Amino acid sequence: MQVTVYNCRPFDEKELFTEYAKELGMELVLCADAPDLENVSLSKGSRCVNVITSKVDANLIRAFRDNGVEYITTRTIGYDHIDVEAAKECGIKVGNAPYGPGGVADYTVMLILMSIRRMGAILGRTALQDYTLAGLNGRELRDLTVGVIGTGRIGATVVRSLSGFGCRILTYDLYEKEEVKQYAEYVPLAQIWKEADVITLHTPLTQENHHLIGADTIAQMKDGVVIVNTARGALIDSDAFIEAIENGKIGAAGLDVVENEFGLYYYDHKSDILKNRELAMFRSFPNVIVSHHMAFYTKNYVETVVKDSLMSCKLYMEGKENPWEVG
Ligand code: NAI
Repeated sequence: MQVTVYNCRPFDEKELFTEYAKELGMELVLCADAPDLENVSLSKGSRCVNVITSKVDANLIRAFRDNGVEYITTRTIGYDHIDVEAAKECGIKVGNAPYGPGGVADYTVMLILMSIRRMGAILGRTALQDYTLAGLNGRELRDLTVGVIGTGRIGATVVRSLSGFGCRILTYDLYEKEEVKQYAEYVPLAQIWKEADVITLHTPLTQENHHLIGADTIAQMKDGVVIVNTARGALIDSDAFIEAIENGKIGAAGLDVVENEFGLYYYDHKSDILKNRELAMFRSFPNVIVSHHMAFYTKNYVETVVKDSLMSCKLYMEGKENPWEVG
């Protein structure tokens, strides 16, 4: 029972993978790099491969198939980095590894608070021993209306956490949840655009909501609106967003995800010329906090995804019912 694990981080995953594989009676091929056509041969002899958010496109999937791979599991909740249709055509199943929503929800609340209190600019000034106050006046959450788009596991947890701050909470989702109604009001999206001081995104990226926040929707928002995105970069049209920051329509933002982040995040690029101009622009604004897609990254997360992704491979190989299979 062999599994090839790509993007295996030596500093926090390797030991856990090794220990847990031993417990489950599995052999592992561990590779620190993302899967590509160069290292796809490492999957030979493994019916299952284990990946994170690097792109798994149709070419790679066909190469996996040619090496005998039948199941791809990703140590993430989102799986839009895997071409599920191509996998289906190749007869390859896909699984994800959901982990508790608390880490991302905490991080989201942190980004909301940091954005409304101008924490990016405060930290920048403190680092330079500039202890002036001008331009750093913040707002209090209790005075604001927060729009939460997507009330699945993470969005619902954000709503529950925010309820403790005494703000008004408006929510939108394709499906309403009774639990959320204790703390928030479900309203049409148009009302969120119109009334929210802060908008936070918690939906998966789909064809329908690609560039959900774009020129048209931004135009409907309040002046100085704060946008937080810990979901997926392409929910926001970067060009329209940059223009709205430049003209002051968007007052602040906290972006844990950006468009075109594939291949960029989780690598040391300090000596590289990067081609992602949107990211360069976002990083240049004092009222935008950018982090490298790490809202999920807690001790709890690492333990959960390593264990569940291996267990998911084991269930697949034993032909048992697999709660992690998504396609
Ligand atoms: P979930 O599947 O529990 O919830 C997603 C919710 O979005 C569902 O209630 C669904 O009905 C709703 N939804 C789907 N399409 C919609 C649309 N067009 N409009 C409105 N609502 C829509 O997912 P979960 O666990 O809450 O995660 C949300 C997203 O957060 C993930 O899909 C992923 O993209 C992102 N994420 C980011 C992480 C990070 O580290 N920054 C870590 C984990 C997830």
